[in-house]
Amino acid sequence: MTLISAIDLFCGAGGLTQGLKAAGIDVRLGIDLDPACEYPFSFNNGTRFLKKSIQDLTPFDLLQEWKDARFSLLAGCAPCQPFSLYSQGKTDESDGRWNLLAEFQRLVIRTKPTLVTMENVPRLAEQAIFAKFVNALEAEKYHVSAKTVNSADYGVPQQRERLVLLASKLGPIELIPPTHSKRQRTVRDAISNLPPLTAGAEHETDPLHQTATLSETNLLRIQASKPGGTWRDWDPNLVAACHRRRTGKTYPSVYGRMTWDNPAPTMTTQFFGFGNGRFGHPEQDRAISLREGAIIQSFPKSYRFVKPGQPIHMKTLGRLIGNAVPVKLGEAIGRSLQQHVQAFSAREKSKSASAR
Ligand SMILES: C[S@@+](CC[C@H](N)C(=O)[O-])C[C@H]1O[C@@H](n2cnc3c(N)ncnc32)[C@H](O)[C@@H]1O
Repeated sequence: MTLISAIDLFCGAGGLTQGLKAAGIDVRLGIDLDPACEYPFSFNNGTRFLKKSIQDLTPFDLLQEWKDARFSLLAGCAPCQPFSLYSQGKTDESDGRWNLLAEFQRLVIRTKPTLVTMENVPRLAEQAIFAKFVNALEAEKYHVSAKTVNSADYGVPQQRERLVLLASKLGPIELIPPTHSKRQRTVRDAISNLPPLTAGAEHETDPLHQTATLSETNLLRIQASKPGGTWRDWDPNLVAACHRRRTGKTYPSVYGRMTWDNPAPTMTTQFFGFGNGRFGHPEQDRAISLREGAIIQSFPKSYRFVKPGQPIHMKTLGRLIGNAVPVKLGEAIGRSLQQHVQAFSAREKSKSASAR
């Protein structure tokens, strides 16, 4: 029986919700202000979507969803760009997106769900706003744990370090131990059985299995790239002037191919572009397709991101897929929460039995 009823704030295309549902959690509502999230979130999860800014949400909006809930869960993966390495030095606390964590805090304090979870980039843990968030929860008598983990240790075929926070009114709570640290899933496990494609092509039955076009120079560059190598492997006349100037110090990991037998590098919102990271296919002369990126984020192969017949915009899809909580990490979060409430219910049951 499902005991936990969840609301997913900043729900995106549903990576976290899909994982929570796989762990048996009843996700009742997802909220996001990006209209592109509605179709993938609702279609694949059978869950209602509300297009609204978290800043405009009232406690009542949430409480009415939890009316008959045994245990309520508020999940909120606020946008991570203000805290990520990629935006280092480009944002400060005046960036409005920092306030979204404070908005999440407001809703926790006003609605007092039994359980809270959040996933974000590890650098968030160093920010004063995070310490404030944890202090506010502890002041409300939540037990809080926060830990940086590698998603690859939880069955995601990708190196992706993330901070996972869990909080509970019921007692101390921890993320379950790694499930895949001895046998991490690799790029080969994830995408080697997909049909081959050329750069700029689209598969006839799965429109998400499509790849970005490559300029003539980038085609020569990927042909010269070795799996796991860098642009330093290329003939000097293929190396861009900016690479020469920076002597590779700043951008050693752009224009690379993935290796078959390792987890993929971290998927960003730009993973479909060969020049944006090590996003080259291990052996085909192209960047990975949108579908391959989604599978590397551990979305099921059949996850639909766009209504049949609707156009596919690479930038939009890159954003939805790259921003997602990997489904398998979401499932580990969900299993941690389930084990926690089951242990609590067992304790309550034995207490009432011994009182009789
Ligand atoms: C890191 S992504 C969340 C990913 C999602 N949890 C998943 O697993 O797929 C952050 C999301 O926050 C949304 N967002 C940003 N500002 C928002 C706001 N003010 N209100 C609601 N959603 C917002 C973005 O549209 C984006 O989808």
